Amino acid sequence: MNAEKEITELRRRVAHAQRAYYVDAKPIMSDAEFDALFDTLLKLEQEHPELYDANSPTAKVGSDIDNELPEREHSIPVLSLDKCYSAEEMLVWIKRVQDKFPAQIELSIEPKIDGSGVVLYYDNGELQYALTRGNGYIGNDITANIKTVRNIPLKIGYKGKVAVRGEIYITVKDFKEYNRNFGNNQYANPRNLASGCSRRLKSSEVADCPLRIFVYECFPENRIFSSHLESMIFMKENGLPINSYFGFFTSQNISDELRDKIILSFPNNTIGSIGDVPNYLLRFSQIRKNLEYDIDGLVIKVNDMNLREKLGMTEHHPRWAIAYKFDAPMAQTKVHGITFQVGRGGRITPVALLEPVELAGSVISRATLHNEDYIQMLGINIGDTVHISKRGDVIPAVEEVVEKGENMKPADFPANCPSCASLLVKDGAHHFCMNSKCPKKLLGRLQYFAGRGQMNIESLGDKTLEMLFEQKLIVEISDIYTFDYWKLLGQEGYGEKRIRNIFQSIEESKKNPFSVVLASFGLKDIGAKAAEILVDNFRTVDAIIEAAQKKDVHLFTDIDGFGETLAQSVIDSFTDETVLSQISKLKAAGLKFSADEKDERQIHLFLSGTRWVVTGSFAAFKPREKAAELIKKYGAEVLSAVSGKTTHLLCGEEAGSKLEKARSVGAEIVDEQAFIKMLNENAAAEDVEQLKKQQELF
Ligand code: IVH
Repeated sequence: MNAEKEITELRRRVAHAQRAYYVDAKPIMSDAEFDALFDTLLKLEQEHPELYDANSPTAKVGSDIDNELPEREHSIPVLSLDKCYSAEEMLVWIKRVQDKFPAQIELSIEPKIDGSGVVLYYDNGELQYALTRGNGYIGNDITANIKTVRNIPLKIGYKGKVAVRGEIYITVKDFKEYNRNFGNNQYANPRNLASGCSRRLKSSEVADCPLRIFVYECFPENRIFSSHLESMIFMKENGLPINSYFGFFTSQNISDELRDKIILSFPNNTIGSIGDVPNYLLRFSQIRKNLEYDIDGLVIKVNDMNLREKLGMTEHHPRWAIAYKFDAPMAQTKVHGITFQVGRGGRITPVALLEPVELAGSVISRATLHNEDYIQMLGINIGDTVHISKRGDVIPAVEEVVEKGENMKPADFPANCPSCASLLVKDGAHHFCMNSKCPKKLLGRLQYFAGRGQMNIESLGDKTLEMLFEQKLIVEISDIYTFDYWKLLGQEGYGEKRIRNIFQSIEESKKNPFSVVLASFGLKDIGAKAAEILVDNFRTVDAIIEAAQKKDVHLFTDIDGFGETLAQSVIDSFTDETVLSQISKLKAAGLKFSADEKDERQIHLFLSGTRWVVTGSFAAFKPREKAAELIKKYGAEVLSAVSGKTTHLLCGEEAGSKLEKARSVGAEIVDEQAFIKMLNENAAAEDVEQLKKQQELF
C-alpha cells in the first residue's frame, strides 16, 4: 500500500474508533490497540509531512465532541499526557528533567483515574459550568449532568475565577449494580459508563447513576501556586475531592514542614527519594488491585510550578508530566521458531521467531524469551500462539502463551553454544559460552565497538562487519584500522564512494576521547560510567595497566563509585594478553589512550583557605545552596553568619543586614556577576557548562 492510501485508511480507522469510544461509549478496540494505531498514524504522518491534513485525528488532542450537546470554549488549554510503559522509560524521562534542572527536583505521583475528563469552572464561589475535554480547546457543556454528581461541590470558599480539572468515575461495585439494573449490561466497563452517563441528554437519568469525581489540577485566575502540592491542598480546602494516594519523591532532604503537609493532606502518602520511584511503580500495580475504582496508570508530575513553566509544553502535552500506563500495547501472533543468540559477552538469549505482526507502530518478527527459566515459566514452544508486548523502546518480549500448539512441553535449552559448540555454563539465570574465540562473541565485540553510542563508525554497519568477519578480513578490533578497504572495490555494493565513506568515518572515529575508546572495548563491567571514572582517576591507559598489574583491588576500590566486582574486572581485563595487545595495536593506529587536556577534570581548588557567607537571592543559583556547594567544591569553607573570620560575602539581590556586617569586618563583597566570572575563569568545564545552561534560561 502506498503511504497516502495507508494514511487515509489509518485516519479512517482512528476516527471510527474515537467515535465509538467517545461518542457511542462502545469501544471497538482495546486502549492499547488504539494507542498503537494512533502512534502508527502519527509516525507515518511525520514521515510524510506533504500529506498533512488539518482534519486528521492526530491534529486534534483527541476530540470527544458530541454534536448534540452545546459546545463552549475552554479558558485553559486542556492538554493530555505523554505516556510511557516501563520504569526504564520513566527514569529516562526523569533524567531528562534532571539534566535540565539539576539542582533539586521534586516529583509527585498520583493514580491515573480511568474515567472521563471534565473541567469545572467556578466563579464567585459557585459552579458556573462544566465542560468535557472535547478537542482540548472546545468542549461539550455538561453542566446539568455534572451538577448531579454527588461529591462535586456547587459552592466553594474561594471567590475568584478558577478552572478545575478532574475525572468523573464510578466505583467498580456501583458500576456492576447500575449496569445490571439500569444499563442492561450495555457498558463494557466503569469508564464507558462514566463517560456515557455524563454525556446523557437528560440529566434526570444521570442522577440515578452514582458518579463521582477526583480533581487533580486547578487554575485560579488570580492566584499563583508555588507547587502542585499547594494546589492540591487548595482544592481540598475548597471541598473538592482529591485522591488519597500521593507519592512525593525528591532528590534532596525534605523539610519537616513539607512532610507534615503531605501527611496531613493525603492519608495514603508515600515519601521517598527519586531512586524509590521504580519500586513505587511496581508497588502500585499491587495497590491497584485493591482500589474501589479503576486506574489505568500513574501520573508523574513536577511539583515546582516555576519549573513547570520553564519546561513548558508541546502542542499536545506538557513536558512537566507523564503518564505511566500499566498495560503496554500487546499483540497476538504465532511462534514459528526459537533461536538462541550469543551475545558479545557470551550470554545466550533465547529469541522467539514470530509470524510478523504489527505492534505499537512497527512490524515485529522476533521477541525475547530472556532465559531458560522464562521459557519454562511460559511453557512456550514452536507452534504456540502468544501475546507479545513492547514496553517503550525496549526489545519486544513474549508475555504469555494464549494457546498451545502441538508441542506440549516447553522448548529445550541447548547444552552447547550454537556458534562454536562449546559446553555452556550456567551463571545465575543465564547460560554463557566461555570460549574466548567463539566466532559469535568476536563478531559481537566488533559490532559493539563500531556501533552507535560507542565509536560510532557509521559506514561500518553490522552487516558489513559480518561480511568482513566471515571472510576473515576483520577478526579483531584493531583490524578495523589496518584493513585495506580498497580490496572490497568491485564486490557487490562496494563502489569507490562507499569505500571512501568507510575510510572517512574510520578517521573520524579516531577523534573519540579516551573514555569512549575504553568503553567501546565492551570489557566486562566497564561501561561508559566506569570508563569515565577510570579516565578521571588515571588519565592514561599506561597508568591503568600499571595499577592493574599490581593486582591489588584496593587501588581501585578506593575510588568513589568502584566496588569490588568492578575492581576485579578492571584487574582481569588490563592484565589480559589479548586486551593488552589490542591496546598497543590501536595506539599505533592513532586512537586516543590518554585524557585530553581540555577535559582535564582535576579540580583546581582556587578558593582554598577562604571563608564565605552567602546572602540574598540569585538568578543563576536557585536555591542559593547551589552557590554554596560550588564554593565548598573549590576549597572554601561556607559559614552561616558573618564574623571576623569571614573573608568573602557572596551577595545576591535583597541582601539583608549581612552586607553591612561584612563591610564592617572588611570581608570582600562579591556580587553574582563577579562570582560567575570567577567560576568561568577557574572552575571545571562541567560546572562552567552547567552555569551557561542555567544563565540561558534567564
Ligand atoms: S493531569 C496537563 N492527573 O488522564 C495535565 N490527568 O492523558 C493534565 N487523568 O486527560 C492531566 N488521572 O483526563 C492528570 N491524576 C491525574 C489524572 C489524569 C486521570 C486523565 C486526564 C488526562 C488523561 C491523560
